[in-house]
Amino acid sequence: MLSRPRRNRVSPGVRSLVRETALTPGHLVLPLFVIEGRDSAEPIPAMPGCQRLTLDRTVALAREAHGLGIPAVALFPRVADAAKDRLGRESLNPDGLVQRTVKALKDALPDLVVITDVALDPYSSDGHDGIVEGDRVVNDPTLPVLAAMAVAQARAGADVVAPSDMMDGRVAVIRQALDAAGHTDVLICSYCAKYASAFYGPFRAALDSAPRHTSGALADKATYQMDPANAREALREARLDEAEGADWLLVKPGLPYLDIVRALREATPLPIAAYQVSGEFACLKAAAGNGWIDYERCLLESLLCLRRAGADLIWTYGAIDAAKILG
Ligand code: PBG
Repeated sequence: MLSRPRRNRVSPGVRSLVRETALTPGHLVLPLFVIEGRDSAEPIPAMPGCQRLTLDRTVALAREAHGLGIPAVALFPRVADAAKDRLGRESLNPDGLVQRTVKALKDALPDLVVITDVALDPYSSDGHDGIVEGDRVVNDPTLPVLAAMAVAQARAGADVVAPSDMMDGRVAVIRQALDAAGHTDVLICSYCAKYASAFYGPFRAALDSAPRHTSGALADKATYQMDPANAREALREARLDEAEGADWLLVKPGLPYLDIVRALREATPLPIAAYQVSGEFACLKAAAGNGWIDYERCLLESLLCLRRAGADLIWTYGAIDAAKILG
């Protein structure tokens, strides 16, 4: 036998030398759920180990993450029902929860990359990412709200704004609005290929942000998030986002969509982000909780596979766990 592939696996040293993919804490983004109040943490049942945190606790956890080599956090607010309305106006409040949290994080940890979510759903009484008129989520009337939201977040100090709403044309209007307000250095991480996935369940429960509009036609987000059956459509979204000025392209969910990560990696020179979402994390935790899989090894493997598929950066609720294991 002339070729024995096993020779390249013969020892840890050889395996290290020929390893094709690296995973480090520097590739990770930690998503954080923020709530009003002081010094308190609320567990999220379907996401063991994750909590909704008040501003002070958010800063403390971000400090721990940053100390472990995680460069970035992404903020998601749980907004009180009383502050929700059809247009998500609370998202523009300069003293709103996200804006205050961004300021506190940047004051405490100037080098931490702070990413904010641009979408109406946490702020909308309809629970949709855009404005609802009748039984439709309307695209163009939503765009100025998204642009204003991004500017409010940039003004508070956000380094990266991440539109997750899947409205058409939003990257361009957000870029224009940011530049016009002087925020030319604020990046846009576009949720480029965001699928209408059932894997978002625990996240919506954590933020109380599930679609709640009464029309049966809008019981889900299928008129704006992508059909899980489609791959070519992701390439079309990528072309548009690139042309509109996106800095990063995000694929979501992660592991079930490795082919999409790979396809975008080959289609664009832009950095690709993958989001290991709440339902994926819940699966790992639940199986491990039953003693059926090893959480730590499966977490690292799933993140490594996202990197191998072509993701530059990975959003994961397991970021702190992974960083600790990676050492
Ligand atoms: C909404 C948003 C969602 C997630 C991130 N931003 C949920 C949704 O689209 O309904 C999901 C993240 C996760 O499941 O971890 N703008």
